[in-house]
Amino acid sequence: MTQPRKFISVSGGLPGEKTKELLRRREQAVAAGVGNNFPLFVESAKGALLHDVDGNTFLDFAGGIGTVNAGHCPPEVVDAVKRQADLFLHTCFHVGMYEPYVALAEKLAELTPGSFPKKAVLLNSGAEAVENAVKIARKFSGKAGIVSFTRGFHGRTLMGMSLTSKVKPYKYKMGPFAPATYKAPFPYSYMRPESMSEEEYGQFCVRQFEDFLLTEAAPEELAAVIMEPVQGEGGFNVPPKSFVKGIYDICKQNGILFIADEIQTGFGRTGTMFASKYFGIEPDLITISKSLAAGLPISAVVGRADIMDAPNPGELGGTYGGNPLGCVAALAVIKQMEKDDLSGRSEVIGERIRSRCTSLQAQYPAIGDVRGLGAMCAVEFVEPDTGKPAKTLVAGIVRACYEKGVIILTAGVHANIIRFLTPLVITDDELQEGLDIIAEAIAEVHQTAGANSR
Ligand SMILES: Cc1ncc(COP(=O)(O)O)c(C=O)c1O
Repeated sequence: MTQPRKFISVSGGLPGEKTKELLRRREQAVAAGVGNNFPLFVESAKGALLHDVDGNTFLDFAGGIGTVNAGHCPPEVVDAVKRQADLFLHTCFHVGMYEPYVALAEKLAELTPGSFPKKAVLLNSGAEAVENAVKIARKFSGKAGIVSFTRGFHGRTLMGMSLTSKVKPYKYKMGPFAPATYKAPFPYSYMRPESMSEEEYGQFCVRQFEDFLLTEAAPEELAAVIMEPVQGEGGFNVPPKSFVKGIYDICKQNGILFIADEIQTGFGRTGTMFASKYFGIEPDLITISKSLAAGLPISAVVGRADIMDAPNPGELGGTYGGNPLGCVAALAVIKQMEKDDLSGRSEVIGERIRSRCTSLQAQYPAIGDVRGLGAMCAVEFVEPDTGKPAKTLVAGIVRACYEKGVIILTAGVHANIIRFLTPLVITDDELQEGLDIIAEAIAEVHQTAGANSR
């Protein structure tokens, strides 16, 4: 039964008339390759709510794909951006330097795991941070090989695509890809043999990595391993601690740099400022973006000072890298995250989501797995009889959520996983309303599909 809504307001059928008109224009003017998850045109956004051009209000469980952990338009961030906009918009850091760039580099060095001296370079996007981390690692080590992992995602540039491990839609017919890039197996705990404990499975996967170093690429050829401590696009796969620590130790023993891609896991999403802390590792380099600046385009590579200093002046950077609006926004976001302990809040949100979804799992055999770290939670749907990925069911649930006013995304190579990326400022009541709607959507789609519920 549909409950009355406190926050969501959707009326007159979706998409609304103004949205339909914009969709027509979008179709004519915007390249088809730019994918859209929903027919949604946003007019304004605040906290965890999105208001569309037709006057509908949605709860945002996608958070700009993990970009607004601090919420939409946090007042202090908006004020900082406005103040900066009145001063200057752009000089290019290579031409006219500015204090917020330096302050942000200092702050990131302080916040990221690792007790050694650190330095940073600021860039524009996640993919650009990955590109630069690879450049820096190669320059420092004098080696070319870069290892990434199955089901990993690192962006849409040439190196990003080369390191990414989902063919459609990210790589299909876009090759050839960058040479000297290799994929090693990443754990998928949901599919682990029943006879193995989580930690045993982690150790098993470490042994697979040891084999990989014999069969695919020798350590002497490898500049770096790049790993998402919890995989994002790949399905919110939380690897066993023994795996992450095991790979990190192998890297240390063999002179291979360890790059943590914390673009999706960073800034409180997993319950700590950076997921590397949870796994007990101190990466040589960390790539950061997304929730760093509440949606302004900025990213960073932060790491060991001696490694970061390997490239010579002029070999890193770019016209817009570390733009002043992004820097002041990032400094304001970090202040807010620390003041409001948004990492702690992430734990609470994550527990609520997992507990609600676990009780749904008892009801619906199609829910194969509920997993996550902090508020980086996901639910994997499978066909109850065969265990095969239930992509169509998930597409139906996501669509039903949208029609009821909740924006939520899928993940995984089969797109059979629903992932939660709610802003961490979401209130308990908003979260509750969103979870109620997701439960309704699951019930309805099961009913329509005639799928089993217990
Ligand atoms: C782990 C990870 N790395 C890299 C990227 C690429 O970031 P961007 O889309 O800003 O280029 C993403 C984006 O989703 C990501 O999740």
